[in-house]
Amino acid sequence: MRDRNDVERAQWQLWAVAFVMICGLAGALIFVATGTAPTSRVTFLPSSALLAIALGGLVTAFTMYAIDRERHLHRLAERLLREQVDAEQMGTRLKYLHELTRERDTNAALLDGSADGIAVIDKDFEIIRFNRSMQKLCALAGTDALGKRAEEVFRFATADGSPLEGAMHPIRVAATDGIARAGVELRLLVGEDKERWVSGTFSPIHDAEGTSAILISLRDIAEQKEQERMHRDFVSMAAHELRNPLTAIKGFTRTLMLKADMLSDERRYEYLSMVNEQSNRLAHLVEDLMRVSRIDAGRVTIEPRALDVAETLAGLLEQFRTKWSAREIVVTRPESLSPAFADPHKLEEILINLIDNAVKYSEAGSRVEVSIAADGAEVKVSVRDHGEGIPAEEIPNLFQKFARIASPSTSEIPGTGLGLYIVKGFVLAHGGRVWVDSSPGDGSTFSFTLPVASARETAHAV
Ligand SMILES: Nc1ncnc2c1ncn2[C@@H]1O[C@H](COP(=O)(O)OP(=O)(O)OP(=O)(O)O)[C@@H](O)[C@H]1O
Ligand SMILES: [Mg+2]
Repeated sequence: MRDRNDVERAQWQLWAVAFVMICGLAGALIFVATGTAPTSRVTFLPSSALLAIALGGLVTAFTMYAIDRERHLHRLAERLLREQVDAEQMGTRLKYLHELTRERDTNAALLDGSADGIAVIDKDFEIIRFNRSMQKLCALAGTDALGKRAEEVFRFATADGSPLEGAMHPIRVAATDGIARAGVELRLLVGEDKERWVSGTFSPIHDAEGTSAILISLRDIAEQKEQERMHRDFVSMAAHELRNPLTAIKGFTRTLMLKADMLSDERRYEYLSMVNEQSNRLAHLVEDLMRVSRIDAGRVTIEPRALDVAETLAGLLEQFRTKWSAREIVVTRPESLSPAFADPHKLEEILINLIDNAVKYSEAGSRVEVSIAADGAEVKVSVRDHGEGIPAEEIPNLFQKFARIASPSTSEIPGTGLGLYIVKGFVLAHGGRVWVDSSPGDGSTFSFTLPVASARETAHAV
């Protein structure tokens, strides 16, 4: 609007200047004409006055023109200044926009990259953000969750299984009292019949009108819960395993103390042997627990040297002849076997555990086969039994602490479920591998590898 007025005024001024200039020029022409003509007919004004008028008109016209140009230049300068300010403001806005976009992208990346499930619920309890981890946790695609009612997606239950619905729902609770809660352990129901242990944080976001949104963060704590379960199992298992030999020791020693005179020498010897056996069992359990604690802490120390695995095995078969006498243990080995680079005591522990298991978990009279073979840069040892075998679904857990298969035929067999955990810890400490092949009804084969000793290590051992 202001520009249009300027243009109109400039046009008007141009016409005025043109008019004054034409008048001035006309006056000058008349003066020239009257001055040169011998007999002038224009006698109403003296020629000097005419010249003054014409010159005055011209000077006025030029002055007006100059003033107009000056104003025009001034306006131009003002406009340029305005445009410069506009450009600067635009630049600042663009920078601000750029920063906002960057911040939004960073937030989105943070939200999506977070290992915890994160969701945002608006004040109408509809889901407006649902990050990737939350999609995994709830087994629900983002497109299916966004816009849905939060209580439909987040179905929680307490530790004892009671559903948290209506006013009890943690999101409703946070919206009502506006207080943030962190580390709430809950069961999250997933799909129709699955559930997950989660630790939830519910943070209401406030604005001038009250709670405008609720931020939910869920962490999968299945592993922590499993650890807790294992610790509980351990305490009850250890207590059970410790109590049995202690009860026996207590009983025998008490009898020996009270009735020593009445017992024959053989009976006394028998009772003392029982006390000895049960003490060994206790000592063995305590040893196992100490080994487990070293494995857990990553403090397994091995003192490896070049050794013949077949020789170590032969020594053990001799040592445990009585214990394993009811079994035929067949050893297969190649004629020339590369020495392994291993800690002799740890290797003995590995072999004792695997042969013990093969004997324990197969029928009396069935054979146990141990084969030793050189396999490239490794020595491979396999212990095969002809027992019941292991169901495929149990295999992934088998090498974990306290893992025992709850089958009617094996639950009566004593054990703490630590043997295979120790075997794995010791084999891995040597840089080897351990695994099992088994199919129910066809027995099991537990195998492990150890590194072959180099020529230098072998020479050093001799
Ligand atoms: N050869 C096998 N055949 C069938 N099941 C086996 C065999 N070896 C191990 N298992 C199963 O794996 C479980 C774990 O074995 P592991 O040696 O770790 O513990 P354990 O024998 O129960 O106790 P221990 O600590 O005294 O060795 C056993 O309880 C058993 O159910
Ligand atoms: Mg065992």
